[in-house]
Amino acid sequence: MKDSLKGRSLLTLKDYTKDEIRYILDTAHKLKADRKAGINNEIFKGKTLAMIFEKPSTRTRCAFETSFGEEGGHPVFLSLNDIQLGKKETVEDTARVLGRMFDAIEFRGFKQETVDTLAKYSGVPVFNGLTDLYHPTQILADLMTIEEQLGSLENKTMAYVGDGRNNMAHSLIIGCAKMGVNITVICPESLTPLQDVVDYSNQVAKESGSIITITDSMNSGLKGVDIIYTDVWVSMGEEEKSKERVDLLTPYQINNSALELTNNPNVIFMHCLPAVRGMEVTHEVLEGDRSVVWDEAENRKHSIKAVMSVLI
Ligand code: CP
Ligand code: NVA
Repeated sequence: MKDSLKGRSLLTLKDYTKDEIRYILDTAHKLKADRKAGINNEIFKGKTLAMIFEKPSTRTRCAFETSFGEEGGHPVFLSLNDIQLGKKETVEDTARVLGRMFDAIEFRGFKQETVDTLAKYSGVPVFNGLTDLYHPTQILADLMTIEEQLGSLENKTMAYVGDGRNNMAHSLIIGCAKMGVNITVICPESLTPLQDVVDYSNQVAKESGSIITITDSMNSGLKGVDIIYTDVWVSMGEEEKSKERVDLLTPYQINNSALELTNNPNVIFMHCLPAVRGMEVTHEVLEGDRSVVWDEAENRKHSIKAVMSVLI
């Protein structure tokens, strides 16, 4: 397993098998335990990581930067103000140059095509830290958190509620389908996930046994679920859609009534964060005893460390 993963990029979870994701999750749990025990293995000693950010970030940037640095590596943060990427210099040329100087590259930005091109031309592992289409490292932290909270992924059902066509929805559908977690996407019809993501995931689900459901009904969709997941109604880069989204998604807010619809007192609430309190989730739910969002945020660090330790 170890050898088949070395040198690969993480652009989308589509590229990874269930066993490979399992291996990354096991590594993440181990690295978290190591850190709690004060064990440091200097996994990245003598290595360098380029971190390119076209969009802002708290968790993803800090997870990559601290986990790489604390294990002896040297991360270099590059915002669009710092480098020529796709403007004065093509993405291909930047990729080639960074590939000569760094052991790996993290990219957060708009187009999936950009991160794919970086991987194609740099010759080093490239990690997708979020694009408009996918957010694969977030899903690894989410799966890790579910295992901590609920013991395992087996026979669990997640309801993802809200914007069904954003990066989180797409990556959660793929990740759940791969790992055998049932997923119900609850969203208005105009925000349903991309059909090719659903078709691909249904194909994968035949093997894992996961059931994928898309519905606009909070009543039927939330019944009996183990996990409620939501994300912002307006993703980075689509700020002009704010009013339209609030109108469309207000019935999909996660509040105490939504939790009650699950009929499951042990349901856990997850959110990739940042959260807009009073919009997609109420203050009460975010701060309530079903919320696991702070563990989930912490797990970004351990799971990203695992991804880099396995792939670089
Ligand atoms: N969840 C997440 O990706 O957070 P940031 O945007 O702060 O990185
Ligand atoms: N869908 C959100 C996720 C943030 C982590 C966004 O793209 O802004």
